[in-house]
Amino acid sequence: MTAGPATRPAPTLDRSRQRAMYARALGHLPGGTDSNFRAWGEDTVYVDRGLGGRVWDLDGNEYIDLRMGYGPVILGHGDPRVDDHVNERMRKGVSFSLTSEDEVQAVELVCELTGWVKKARLTVSGTEATMHAMRIARAYTGRDRIVKFEGQYHGVHDYALISVTPDRPQEELGDADNPVGLAWGRGIPEAVARTIIPARYNALDVLRRIFERDAADIAGVIIEPVLGNAQGILPQPGFHEAIRALTREFGAVLIYDEVKTGFRFARGGAAEYFGVTPDLATFAKAMGNGYPVAAFGGSDEVMSVLPDHVSHGGTYAGNRVAAAAAVKTLMIIKETDALERVHATGRAVQAGLKEVLDRRGIAHTFTGHPAMFGIFFAERAPTEYRDWADSDHELYDAVAAAMHPRGAMPEPDSREPWFFCEAHADEGVVDRVPTIFADALDAVLEARARSGSMAGTAEQHHG
Ligand SMILES: Cc1ncc(COP(=O)(O)O)c(C=O)c1O
Repeated sequence: MTAGPATRPAPTLDRSRQRAMYARALGHLPGGTDSNFRAWGEDTVYVDRGLGGRVWDLDGNEYIDLRMGYGPVILGHGDPRVDDHVNERMRKGVSFSLTSEDEVQAVELVCELTGWVKKARLTVSGTEATMHAMRIARAYTGRDRIVKFEGQYHGVHDYALISVTPDRPQEELGDADNPVGLAWGRGIPEAVARTIIPARYNALDVLRRIFERDAADIAGVIIEPVLGNAQGILPQPGFHEAIRALTREFGAVLIYDEVKTGFRFARGGAAEYFGVTPDLATFAKAMGNGYPVAAFGGSDEVMSVLPDHVSHGGTYAGNRVAAAAAVKTLMIIKETDALERVHATGRAVQAGLKEVLDRRGIAHTFTGHPAMFGIFFAERAPTEYRDWADSDHELYDAVAAAMHPRGAMPEPDSREPWFFCEAHADEGVVDRVPTIFADALDAVLEARARSGSMAGTAEQHHG
């Protein structure tokens, strides 16, 4: 690798209000936040507002938002089409524990856009959606165990937190041919953890052996169609088709966790994009442009266990704010070229980044989909979580952190893809993001060259 042109001096951000807020928040919120994933220590970001594809922190620093709330904001922050509709509907009352037309319409749209989902129910979070989908699979088959893939994240319920993101996978996840389930954090009952069978993404031989060994107990396979929480690693050709065939052969339910890919990869999500139809799927994020709405749904046959044989409910399930947000967001996705614009922006940004990296002779590849992609500094992309963990992602993490003081905010962790929204298309992102990326990259490479280490992290996150 060679450093590019001389870099501009690293800008520093005023973070005084955020530092004060961090100190205050630490008094009562563990880590100073409501989610472990947002707790970045002294660098924890406290937000003031967002508009379109931009976000402002509490100190007034402006960023191009490349996180988009970990994916939900598909149109843009404060989209007036969605917000006005939600405001109008919520004036009629929000929570009745009765069913409104908004809910019926939202589910009709999920069914129409996916084409294959015939019945669905709304929930508030992706976590709930995957929890219920797993239960439906168990109820439908009368079996207890669920296969999940290493490095995949399906939310924070007990059944999802197995083999998600260990630092030393080869040690902690066991033999490549016989992966072991590793609970993420304490408090997950061992009996629950044992019901989850870990598999490896893109390793069909492992999956087949699991079925041959445990088929009588396997209710279903849950899979993020791409490893959306590990760099957006893509399936090898034929992987999804083979899983579909295996689950049919052994009578197990195939669940697509489309929380990140749904209504983003295509109107019909990753199922449409890859041309494979599962039995059940979960949706959240892009279906509500940031409002807390999610869903699980599937074929008439598998969903027929509801309402009589499976418990599902929720005081806030289908609440008016969430349902109205889903109706308007899904209508926009259905009737406008919003998704095409998101995809075109992502593709154009990738082209700009490629030029920056090519000019500097840095091997790279993009993972995921233009609407949600990862950047990997090697010629060949990883094919599973273990590959990602073995790779040098420190360079990426350092570059991502160095983009923050320069005005763009990707997650400073290569596992989390860059997310694009429709509003980015009108905000000069296609030019600005590669420029910011180039400056950050040059600064990091220079700092590495100065320290004589290829492993050292360059700039302090947030300056
Ligand atoms: C693929 C996937 N499934 C499930 C979830 C959990 O969704 P939520 O955070 O809404 O509970 C996430 C969250 O990032 C996700 O990426």
